[in-house]
Amino acid sequence: MEMKPISEKEIQQFRADTKGTTHRIHFNNAGASLPPDVVVDSVVRYLNEESNYGGYETEYKYKAALDHVYELIAGLIHADRDEVAVVENASMAWGMAFNGIDFKKGDEVITSEMEYVTNMIGFIHARKTLGVEIRVIPNDDQGNFSVAALEAAITSKTKLIAITHIPSTAGNILPVIEIGKIARRHQILYLVDACQSVGQMPINVKEIDCDMLSATGRKYLRAPRGTGFLYVRKSVQDRLKISYMDGFTAPHVTETDFQIRNDARRFELYEKNRALSLGLGKAIAYAMQIGIDRIQHRVQYLADRLRQHLKNIEGVTIHDQGEQQSGIVTFSLHGMESEAVKYKLAEKQINVSVGLAQSTLVYMNRHHLKTVVRASVHYYNTEEEVQFLCEALQNIMHKTFIPVHF
Ligand SMILES: Cc1ncc(COP(=O)(O)O)c(C=O)c1O
Repeated sequence: MEMKPISEKEIQQFRADTKGTTHRIHFNNAGASLPPDVVVDSVVRYLNEESNYGGYETEYKYKAALDHVYELIAGLIHADRDEVAVVENASMAWGMAFNGIDFKKGDEVITSEMEYVTNMIGFIHARKTLGVEIRVIPNDDQGNFSVAALEAAITSKTKLIAITHIPSTAGNILPVIEIGKIARRHQILYLVDACQSVGQMPINVKEIDCDMLSATGRKYLRAPRGTGFLYVRKSVQDRLKISYMDGFTAPHVTETDFQIRNDARRFELYEKNRALSLGLGKAIAYAMQIGIDRIQHRVQYLADRLRQHLKNIEGVTIHDQGEQQSGIVTFSLHGMESEAVKYKLAEKQINVSVGLAQSTLVYMNRHHLKTVVRASVHYYNTEEEVQFLCEALQNIMHKTFIPVHF
């Protein structure tokens, strides 16, 4: 069936559903999106019930809804519900997967230059403590990930391919499906960091053919902060060590032994913020009702518009490279620190963020970038907001207000 683009009327409805859009222009969706009001309301209602009736009593009452969150996550990424664990953030999810791998001295991990800081630290730690070797595949001259270079780097010692789908401080998208084909052909474990892509574009773990995938709730899914999840393919679950355990992880315990549960929830601990889990579920349901393919289309459209406008502003350098680009738009203003740009825009109620070198260290170093301004669009943003941002940037660059003609 043909995809129907999101209409102007729908956008107005999504904005009416989102308190924050009335007084801010929010282009920090790669930091944390503005959640829809129904998400916030469900969290607040749950917390109120807990305070009135008791935490465990409220959990019992909401058992079905809380259970359903796993179905929603599974539906979102085309997994089975017993392949999903709810955790607090993407770093926790990624760490549970990566640290679960039984690395031996000399094992090799292949990654890209776009890898996120948490993951880089994980690699370096594994090198220091276990003697694991790290191979970083550089982008080609056009800023594209080279699938051929990846395949050429594989050796008999390659244990893991770890890829960030959409980097934190750059605008490109990595070809995770093509990479997955190579991982499968060589029977190598494959871990995808989908922190910036989940909610922004369709994610199908079967199509990507990854063994593990980590994600956060607060970014493009528009869920509350403090939510995330981990996918682990059923057949891989027993191959991963578990870092933390409680009576939920191991429901069968004797005085001398225990047995781990038979699903991905073994990577969770029982005690967590259930109000937030419910909010995550609500956010996923909201996004899926719109249609993730339609969201992607709108995000791409707005990001393209923003890049086109930025090109017309003297003194602005866009850093994004690569054929496939995301809703994360990165740029610099000549002669101005990114932090100063952010504060000047904040005076006009525009939220952008500063991308630090360490967030995508290899790429940023290679391009001699200490920081970038990061404006990340979402489907509920409007073309007028994009125009307002560009006029504000023009104003900052040239001090006087000159309307930008688009
Ligand atoms: C690409 C990428 N991966 C992982 C993370 C870590 O996510 P979290 O802060 O939820 O742990 C981020 C956060 O910005 C990110 O951009």
